Amino acid sequence: PKDEPDLWRSTIFFSEVLADFFRFSHDVKQRHRTELGDQNRVFASRGSNITLPCRLHRQHGMSFGSLGMRIKWTKLSADESLEEDVLVSMGFHKKSYGSFQGRVHLLEADDDDASLVLSDVSLDDVGKFHCEVIDGIDDVIHEVTLEVQGVVFPYSPRLGRYNLNFHDAEQACLDQDSVVASFDQLYEAWRSGMDWCNAGWLNDGSVQYPITKPRGPCGGANARAGLRNYGQREKSKSHYDVFCFTSGLKGRLYWLVQPNKLMFAEAVQACQDDGAEIANVAQMYAAWKLNGYDRCDSGWLADGSVRYPISRPRRNCSPTEAAVRFVGFPDKKQKLFGVYCFKGQQ
Ligand SMILES: *[C@@H]1O[C@H](CO)[C@@H](O)[C@H](O)[C@H]1NC(C)=O
Repeated sequence: PKDEPDLWRSTIFFSEVLADFFRFSHDVKQRHRTELGDQNRVFASRGSNITLPCRLHRQHGMSFGSLGMRIKWTKLSADESLEEDVLVSMGFHKKSYGSFQGRVHLLEADDDDASLVLSDVSLDDVGKFHCEVIDGIDDVIHEVTLEVQGVVFPYSPRLGRYNLNFHDAEQACLDQDSVVASFDQLYEAWRSGMDWCNAGWLNDGSVQYPITKPRGPCGGANARAGLRNYGQREKSKSHYDVFCFTSGLKGRLYWLVQPNKLMFAEAVQACQDDGAEIANVAQMYAAWKLNGYDRCDSGWLADGSVRYPISRPRRNCSPTEAAVRFVGFPDKKQKLFGVYCFKGQQ
């Protein structure tokens, strides 16, 4: 709405001034990045609208009003090597970029406000944003970290362990309605007890795994608990598992109560007949972690794997730990399992 093309009265002039602004702001950045490293964290839920705060604190002169203020919002890539444009504003001129088009506008609460309103927050939006504001001789660079509450889960495909290069890993998570997890997300998962002895890709191109109970095959029994880091790996040639991140979706995962054991195709059909879809792996982890879902029955999931979620460990049902138990990728013709379905909320 605020970045309609008809606001672009003198595009060429605008681009030139913008180019100057960015050269200038680049200098500012060098100067202020360390001084103004204050960390702001904002928590959103998926699909919600969120405001990323940013204000100009004037040290010097007076305000020229919001018309004089130049604002640039960027988002840092996962490895923090690149800045992607989100929104640029100079007076009446506003432009948003890429996946942010049509989803961002400035709050403009008052003359010093440069806060960004982001609607329909997606898992891809998670990360660090920079807000650069210049008005006369006052300037500020502000960092805001957007987080989404969710769950990290390890994933390996039917082919077995260590079969995914980085691009396969991105696709594998996408197929499970999730994204490749960030270091921060895996670190948080480790702090809340995640222990997994297979190395997986993270979204910054590094390969790591979380260990809370140090032991021989997992980096050594004498090593400290922590994230074991293989460092940056070659994205097309190296093959590992992946850590995916998802957040709760609007809808419900459930065990389909029905009399028979099913083969995979029957399981898919049974969920459809119930007005739902066969659940994916991310939905099972989200139901287990975020809603405490517990069911000691092995069921098919959409990727052809069979799993069951245990949040109350007990005899014969993951006795030692709360976990989503992985039974395997059985022959799809085997009639040995039930099915977990997912019904979205409309
Ligand atoms: C989010 O903002 C959009 C407009 O940008 C609005 O249409 C939508 O209703 C808002 N959603 C929520 C959940 O507030």
